[in-house]
Amino acid sequence: MAEPRKLYIRTYGCQMNVYDSERMGTALAADGYEQTDRPEDADLIVLNTCHIREKAAEKVYSELGRLRPLKSARPGLKVAVAGCVAQAEGAEILARAPLVDVVVGPQAYHRLPGLVGRARETGEAQLDTEFPAEDKFDHLPVGAPARRRAPAAFLTVQEGCDKFCAFCVVPYTRGAEVSRPAARVLEEARRLVAQGVVEITLLGQNVNAWHGEGPDGREWGLGRLIRALADVEGLARIRYTTSHPNDMEDGLIAAHAEVPALMPYLHLPVQSGSDRVLKAMNRKHTAESYVRLIERIRAARPDIAISGDFITGFPGETEAEFEATMDLVREVGYAQAYSFKYSPRPGTPAAGAGQVPEDAKADRLARLQSLLSEQQSAFNAATVGRTLPVLVEKPGRHAGQMVGRSPYLQAVHMPASPADSGRILPIRIAAASQNSLSGAPEPAPAETG
Ligand code: 5AD
Ligand code: SF4
Repeated sequence: MAEPRKLYIRTYGCQMNVYDSERMGTALAADGYEQTDRPEDADLIVLNTCHIREKAAEKVYSELGRLRPLKSARPGLKVAVAGCVAQAEGAEILARAPLVDVVVGPQAYHRLPGLVGRARETGEAQLDTEFPAEDKFDHLPVGAPARRRAPAAFLTVQEGCDKFCAFCVVPYTRGAEVSRPAARVLEEARRLVAQGVVEITLLGQNVNAWHGEGPDGREWGLGRLIRALADVEGLARIRYTTSHPNDMEDGLIAAHAEVPALMPYLHLPVQSGSDRVLKAMNRKHTAESYVRLIERIRAARPDIAISGDFITGFPGETEAEFEATMDLVREVGYAQAYSFKYSPRPGTPAAGAGQVPEDAKADRLARLQSLLSEQQSAFNAATVGRTLPVLVEKPGRHAGQMVGRSPYLQAVHMPASPADSGRILPIRIAAASQNSLSGAPEPAPAETG
């Protein structure tokens, strides 16, 4: 038999890209490719790209520049650009980087093996940025059931976005909102659990807008789907991301109170604390409605860790409007957050007039991040002395040390062995820093997560 061809995949951007890369890897494995972590050994390099901010998009071109010597050294090497930059820029990529052999968008990557094959046969670059009528997931192979996987996995349940926030490329790169059928999601969850997975994070650009017909013939929302997943034997933990405040339906909030497998962590981006800015962003909620929503969620699950996304220097944002964001952060109290300077994206409504100077964007971001860091440190410090159930995931930096996750998604370092991977151990938290906790297993029963 011929040597298997070698595949190197590099993933940028969000967790959905991580999930997509995994599926591309499985599709290419069925076509005879074996994965490597050394790009210099590869016969095929796939860059799975992100277009969300300019910096993310530009990384692709610098990476392609670095691949040029590899390509001259190995004439058989094929290079594919997948993901959101592929979707947004299409043929421009081939013009700017002639070494690229395949450009494939996020809704067409089930065709990647065919596209690579055709590029090899014809020597001509292949481009597929269609939003095909068929569902890519129906055409992608699934991993071998015997394969052991890491204990925590992603599962895409919803894709695309119909919200059209004025700053965001996602509705253009990922397309319209689509929910995968409940039966498919449950089937995939069972398969993951059979491969050793104990925690699943449900993914969607608007994951809480997921809806579909349940096996009972009724219309289900995400809360109902989570209840069905909680019944999957062996699935101990469920998470979901990313949610929009306007889709936080009652059934989902109730699930946080009633489903023990649903972890007490919620990523709920608000972007700004100023109603004028929120309106200009086309967010369709106010600062006040967001704060009230958080209160309802906390009434259901008082210890829930709240995470968010923020943008500083959206076009027209004044100093006073930025201060409104700081006030909202002080009022909510975040366990964790992501914040960014506004980055104008071609083709989006906000990319035109009224841009805030770069130094003001940067100054506001620094002030916001310092407040968010303080809150994160305080949230972590408050767990010291508690015993938390920690899912052991992978070896830590030191011998005899493993890293896992608390129910609140905090990284926890602990003495344990690789054989503990996939177990949920009661860990008494001894110390906390801004980014992680550390502690040791305790024989006493853990608090329920
Ligand atoms: N500029 C800066 N940040 C952005 N985000 C999305 N688009 C932009 C942009 N043009 C941020 C938002 C979103 C997160 C995924 O990225 O905060 O929630
Ligand atoms: Fe990047 Fe957004 Fe596309 Fe994810 S969905 S890859 S974050 S642009």
